[in-house]
Amino acid sequence: MKLYDVYSLFDVNIVKGKGCKVWDEKGTEYLDLYGGHAVISIGHCHPHYVSSISQQVATLGFYSNSVINRLQEKVAETLGEISGYEDYSLFFINSGAEANENALKLSSFHNGRTRVIAFNKAFHGRTSLAVEVTDNPKIIAPINNCGHTTYLPLNDIDAVRKELEKGDVTAVIIEGIQGVGGIRIPDATFLQQLQQACKENGTVLILDEIQSGCGRSGKFFAHQWAGIRPDIITVAKGIGNGFPMGCVLISPQFTPTAGQLGTTFGGNHLACSAAQAVLDVIRNENLLQNVNSVGEYLMNELKAIPQIKEIRGKGLMIGMEFDEPIKDIRRRLLFEEHVFTGVSGTNVIRLLPPLSLTMNEAKEFITRLKRALQ
Ligand SMILES: Cc1ncc(COP(=O)(O)O)c(C=O)c1O
Repeated sequence: MKLYDVYSLFDVNIVKGKGCKVWDEKGTEYLDLYGGHAVISIGHCHPHYVSSISQQVATLGFYSNSVINRLQEKVAETLGEISGYEDYSLFFINSGAEANENALKLSSFHNGRTRVIAFNKAFHGRTSLAVEVTDNPKIIAPINNCGHTTYLPLNDIDAVRKELEKGDVTAVIIEGIQGVGGIRIPDATFLQQLQQACKENGTVLILDEIQSGCGRSGKFFAHQWAGIRPDIITVAKGIGNGFPMGCVLISPQFTPTAGQLGTTFGGNHLACSAAQAVLDVIRNENLLQNVNSVGEYLMNELKAIPQIKEIRGKGLMIGMEFDEPIKDIRRRLLFEEHVFTGVSGTNVIRLLPPLSLTMNEAKEFITRLKRALQ
């Protein structure tokens, strides 16, 4: 059997990782400024993470959601403390798309409505509702195209208010920082007005923090820079550092009913041991502080590089926009300078390194980037 060919692959086989570095099968070392697509939060193969998962799999890898799971309770407690959302409840799932899927279902159960507002360039995943609120017609199959979504320009509060006043919008879904859309940050005032407008119109505000959360922006959630408290927050990627996990943080105004949501694998013992280790390391190693200082250094250095048209971002979620397509620069970075980076569209390179990126590694990246741009 061959693989279903949907990915455009680099001709590199990564077989080992440690911290912010990875190695291919020939032993070549790479600096990882991509974090496997914003997934690696505490660094590859962190010793605490490795020992937690190893011990857990040797003890109990899985049991179903029909019995008490104290590991889930512990993750919920720690996530509440570290994020400042102790009064919210937590529902576990396996991926980002599923987290958004369940957030949208909860909204619709809650207010009985079916229309959703999403924003231009939004990406929320590839399952049925998640893809329907994603602004990319190429990945919406006809079966997913059910007319639930109205897309509006980011930061246009008047346009949002006009739609909300019609009274049929179940939820507004917005990324803390747009990732796939090219690292676009919603204005703080826009988010504050959005929260107010949602409240006034009985609409649920869902913050998709799947890429921008778990410390990547320098606060635990990117929306916390605007001082808002959404009704639902979705999390995935960095929470498991590579182990598949998604989470839905749900405000106290929602009342659960038996059987309303469910999953086989979500919140299993192994996934919880991974998430617990991630949260422990973020807290014990002061990774938010590291994100802020290394992120600031990178932003300043990048702003001084004349070939880059615009730098956008917060913490260790950074977009470098060029006047021309970045395909060749990215290839040179990978094959000549041995640096992994991400991409958004044709002209933006996305940096999403592990939150543990050291100042020395950041300096090394800047040196290699400058060489690649010569
Ligand atoms: C903002 C955002 N939402 C949702 C998703 C979907 O997550 P997953 O691929 O885990 O389903 C992604 C993935 O890139 C994302 O960046």
